[in-house]
Amino acid sequence: MAPPWTVLYLFGIAIVACAEEASVYTVPPTTFGANGYPNWGAGTWPPSTVGVPLVPQQTESWILSLLDQFDPDRIQSTIQTLVNFGTRHTASTTTSTTRGIGAARQWLLKEMTALAAPSKGLIKVSMPCYEQPAVPADGIPFAVQLCNVQAEITGAVDPNRTYVYTGHYDSRRINNSDYENYAPGADDDASAVAIALEIVRILAPSLAKNPPASSLIIAAVAGEEQGLFGSNFLAQTLKNASVDVQGNFNNDIVGSGSNAPFDPMNEHTIRVFGAGTDYLTLPAEVIQEIITTGYQDDTPARHLGRFIQEVNAGAAQVTDMQVALIYKPDRFFRGGDHESFLKAGFPGIRFTEPQEDFYHQHQDPRVQDGIVYGDEIEYVDFEYTARVGKVNLLSMLSIANAPGTPSNFTYDTEIGFLATSESTPASFLENIIKLYWNTDPSDPLLDHYEIVWRPLASQQWTHMLNVGMETTTILPISKDNAVFGLRAVGKNGMKSPATYALAVASQYFG
Ligand SMILES: *[C@@H]1O[C@H](CO)[C@@H](O)[C@H](O)[C@H]1NC(C)=O
Ligand SMILES: *[C@@H]1O[C@H](CO)[C@@H](O)[C@H](O)[C@H]1NC(C)=O
Ligand SMILES: *[C@@H]1O[C@H](CO)[C@@H](O)[C@H](O)[C@H]1NC(C)=O
Ligand SMILES: *[C@@H]1O[C@H](CO)[C@@H](O)[C@H](O)[C@H]1NC(C)=O
Repeated sequence: MAPPWTVLYLFGIAIVACAEEASVYTVPPTTFGANGYPNWGAGTWPPSTVGVPLVPQQTESWILSLLDQFDPDRIQSTIQTLVNFGTRHTASTTTSTTRGIGAARQWLLKEMTALAAPSKGLIKVSMPCYEQPAVPADGIPFAVQLCNVQAEITGAVDPNRTYVYTGHYDSRRINNSDYENYAPGADDDASAVAIALEIVRILAPSLAKNPPASSLIIAAVAGEEQGLFGSNFLAQTLKNASVDVQGNFNNDIVGSGSNAPFDPMNEHTIRVFGAGTDYLTLPAEVIQEIITTGYQDDTPARHLGRFIQEVNAGAAQVTDMQVALIYKPDRFFRGGDHESFLKAGFPGIRFTEPQEDFYHQHQDPRVQDGIVYGDEIEYVDFEYTARVGKVNLLSMLSIANAPGTPSNFTYDTEIGFLATSESTPASFLENIIKLYWNTDPSDPLLDHYEIVWRPLASQQWTHMLNVGMETTTILPISKDNAVFGLRAVGKNGMKSPATYALAVASQYFG
C-alpha cells in the first residue's frame, strides 16, 4: 500500500500533500528547554499513530514519604566519624580501635547493626572478609584482610532477584601506596557510605509493613582505590551463588556541591554513568547484532539509567533533583565498583556528582601556593548528599517492587523488509515492525506489558503503548527510525526497566 501522502520540500519548508485531504506542514522552530538548550533529541519525529507520549511513572506515596526522612545532619555525622579514623587506606592498621580501616569497619558493622535493629531481623548485617594478596604496583604492599560491611533484605515475592547498592569506605592519598598518613576521604567516598547507613536506618522500621518484593543489598565495600577488590568479591560471591542480580547502584563521590564556579543547576543534578556494549559478557555474534542494528545505547546498564531518570522525573518534587545520563562506563580514564558488577554480567551504573572537585579528591591535605587541597568534610554539601540518597532509595524501592524485566523481546526480520520472493505477502512490505515477547502470567506482581520507543538519537523513551497480556503486536513504525523496548507494569503501577528488542538473540536479556 502506498502511503497516502507525499512530502515536497519547497524553499526548505516541508509540505505534506495528502491524497485524501490537502494540508500544509510547517517545520516547527527548534524548541528550547528551561535551561535554554535546544531539544534536538526531544523526539518530535518520527510521527506515530499508536501509543501516547511517555509520562514518567509515578511512585506510591509510602515510598515518597520514606524519602523525606534523609537527614543531612546524620550524613554529616557519619562522614565526620569516618574522617576521624585518620586514614581508611585498604592496607592501613587493623589493630587500633581509633585509627585505620580496621577501626572504620568495626564502627560500620556496629552502626549498621544498630540501625538495622528496628527491622526485627528483616535486615541481616554481616562483614564478609577474604585475604587479599599483596598487589604492590596497585597500592597494596602486603597481604591484607579485606572486608565489606553489608545489610541484606530478602525479597517477599521474588527473593532471587536482587539489587545492590555500593559505596566504598576506603580512602587514599596521591601516593596510592601510602597506607599511614592522613587520608580523610570525605567526598570520596564517605559520602556514599553515609547514604548507605541512611538507607538502612530509613528502611529498618518500614519493612514489616512494606517489605520489598525482591531483595536488596546495601554494602560499604573496601579496596576500591587499589582495584575494585571489595566490590569484585561481592559481585563474584553473588555470581557464584547464582543470584539474579538485576542492578548495581554504585555511588562514588556524591558529596560536592561547592566546587567553584558552581552553577546552582549542578546542586540539583546527579550524573548516572552507564556503559555501552564494551562490558557485555555475551557471545561476540550477539554483540555484533546489537551494534549493527543500532542498539548499542540499549545495554542493560543504560536501560537501568533510563529507569532511574524516569522514576526520578515522576518524583522530582520530592527528590528536588534531575538525573543526567552519561553514555560512558565512567569518567575519563577512571573507574568504579559498578565495573565489578558489569564484569560479572550484571547491569551496573555509577552515580557521581555533576562537577568533580579535583582539588579535594585523592589529594594530600595541604596548602600549596595559597591553594587548599584535600578531601576534607568542609567541601561536602550534606543537603546535596541527602538528595542523592533520595534518588537512590526512590529508584531501588521502585525497581524492587516492580515486576522483573521481561525477556526474549524479538522482532520478525521478514516483516517490514524487502521481499525475498514473489510470494512474500504484500502486507509484509510496509514500514512496520512485528514484535514478540515472552509473558510470565505467574508473576504475582505483573499487571500487563508496555512497549516503549524513542527516536534512535533520543536518550529517553518518548512513547509508550499498553499491550496488555498479548505476546505479539505490529507497530506502524519503521525499525530504522526508532528503537523499541518492552517493560513489565506492576499491579501497583511500577514499571520494570525496558529490555532489548533483538532479532535473533533476545533470550540473552531479561
Ligand atoms: C608511597 O608510599 C609508600 C608507603 O609508605 C612508600 O614506600 C613509597 O616510597 C611512596 N612512594 C613515593 C613515590 O613517595
Ligand atoms: C567464585 O568461583 C570461582 C570459580 O570456582 C572461584 O575461583 C572464586 O574464588 C569464587 N569467588 C568468590 C568470591 O567466591
Ligand atoms: C536465580 O536466578 C538465576 C538467574 O536467572 C538462576 O540461574 C538461578 O538458578 C536462580 N536461583 C534460584 C534459587 O532460583
Ligand atoms: C523467544 O521467542 C521466540 C519467538 O517468539 C520463540 O520462538 C522462542 O522459543 C523464545 N525463546 C525462549 C528462550 O523463550
